[in-house]
Amino acid sequence: MGLKKSVDEVRVEIPGDLKYEKVVREVTEVVATRMGFSDTEVKNMKVAVDEASSNAIRHAKPKDPKDNRVVITYSIEPSKLVISIKDNGQGFDPKAVRPSIDSLIESEGGRGIFLMKNLTDKVEYDTSPGKGTTVRLIKYLNQDRKKSR
Ligand SMILES: Nc1ncnc2c1ncn2[C@@H]1O[C@H](COP(=O)(O)OP(=O)(O)O)[C@@H](O)[C@H]1O
Ligand SMILES: [Mg+2]
Repeated sequence: MGLKKSVDEVRVEIPGDLKYEKVVREVTEVVATRMGFSDTEVKNMKVAVDEASSNAIRHAKPKDPKDNRVVITYSIEPSKLVISIKDNGQGFDPKAVRPSIDSLIESEGGRGIFLMKNLTDKVEYDTSPGKGTTVRLIKYLNQDRKKSR
């Protein structure tokens, strides 16, 4: 273990099928509520995780059907929650997607990525062609303290 502080992890693996999205929503609610996030923060995180997992389910398109699974990992850290959503699909170029407020109105691509960015504190992508995609959604506890820093 060394000096590294241990972090509680909750991991959920679902088939790449939209009917399992609810499982992810419920786990997100339980984990985030337990950590002390406000009702609004919990709701926002549910939407963000929903967008990330529905993208993994709808867009990943793995070549081999047995790779059609999505793993959601919740890292429960003292000051933040890191939720990673991993698929085994084709990957994509997040920079090529232009998330904008217009996408909310026109309901074209970019809406999910826009929402994730605006409903969490940080979004990170780890994706490359043929290697799948991992999206990390980061949400800090105690926003007030963060703002006054
Ligand atoms: N996990 C993923 N795997 C492959 N492509 C993805 C993934 N997530 C997002 N994308 C690509 O980024 C685009 C924008 O995603 P998003 O903003 O959620 O809009 P939408 O899902 O409505 O198309 C998608 O249309 C898709 O091409
Ligand atoms: Mg989407």
